[in-house]
Amino acid sequence: MQYAHITGWGKAVPPASLTNDDLATFMETSDEWVRTRTGIRKRHISHVDTSVLATVAAKKAIAAAGIEGSDLDLIILATASPDTLIPNIAATVQAEVGATCGAFDINAACSGFLYGLGLANSMIQSGQCRRVLVVGAERLSFYLDWSKRETAVLFGDGAGAVVVEASEQEGGILGYELNNDPAGRDILKSGFGTQMNRFEADALDFYIHLNGQEVFKRAIHGMGALSTKVLEKCQVNKEDVDLVIPHQANERIIDTLISRMKIPKEKAFVNIAEYGNTSAATIPIAICDALEQGKIQPGQTILSCAFGAGLTSAAVLLKWGERTTPINVSDAEVPACDTDALTLIKPAVDYFMAKTDK
Ligand code: UT7
Repeated sequence: MQYAHITGWGKAVPPASLTNDDLATFMETSDEWVRTRTGIRKRHISHVDTSVLATVAAKKAIAAAGIEGSDLDLIILATASPDTLIPNIAATVQAEVGATCGAFDINAACSGFLYGLGLANSMIQSGQCRRVLVVGAERLSFYLDWSKRETAVLFGDGAGAVVVEASEQEGGILGYELNNDPAGRDILKSGFGTQMNRFEADALDFYIHLNGQEVFKRAIHGMGALSTKVLEKCQVNKEDVDLVIPHQANERIIDTLISRMKIPKEKAFVNIAEYGNTSAATIPIAICDALEQGKIQPGQTILSCAFGAGLTSAAVLLKWGERTTPINVSDAEVPACDTDALTLIKPAVDYFMAKTDK
């Protein structure tokens, strides 16, 4: 029996950050509203493409696992904001890390990373692959209409990656569950795609539309149901879960989920204050931060769950291995940014404000 263990991890965070007070300089919002309703204090705005963030996270994860890019058997990249749809950006990461293997993007929105982790587990358990790189990378600032405070305050940019390796050692990914609730596909959406009327630039609307309260309810239901299912399938009691790493969309969603599951609040890892919602990147970034903060210890049982547009949901249960420190450290870094976040988004802010004034 082959077990799939996470052996390497890395994240890439753009240097420019945008605080709630920065947002309040051009829209009717406040630090108090955003903090108390979501838990977010700031988000990072990328000056480089999604694949650049993905590549830095991937290089760090590969070094942390003590392997080379050429050792990989598969690259799965979860994103809803690729720099290009054709080709996929897993191909860009592949070229940058020097891998010779299959590579593809998946779009399961905010659940994408856990969908990828589940696929990696199945590829390893079937004997098809021994080493799989799973990346979650997003540049969601691209999708934001800065005149819409209901969505503009929620999202941020970033990337995270893990290497998943085959091992005889019992543990690693114990099980996973995936679901989709298509009745909810219109309550969180962007019109980006072939349905766009390319010949009417003013009519282009690929910005994120969100029915926040409806997604809020369905998120708790979806993540809760799949978390319970994966625990039952793996015959693990929720009392034996040491750490929960949930998707970071709203701290109140996490609090409600955890309290409904009757899991102590201190077992939930929360880092939304620093990044906002980075969609497919929230969970791999959280894994990196939890390791850096010593919250992940050898042999711990970890439950991770997510939900996103679709409405997708996913839950993964895993038993962490022995190692919580990287084998090697990559010197890959996101390129320096010579301006601040407000200046980076200014052309988009001006565009949307002018459009709203019309
Ligand atoms: O990962 C998947 C994507 N994530 C999500 O879909 C998140 C799910 N939903 C949520 O996190 C929450 O529903 C939100 C954070 C989006 C909104 O929180 P809420 O508690 O559901 O607020 P609300 O939509 O009920 O709005 C309450 C009030 C409204 O004003 P009135 O009608 O009471 O006068 C809004 O206009 O807050 C107002 N509001 C704001 N005020 C200041 C909405 N956005 C803002 C804002 N700043 N940014």
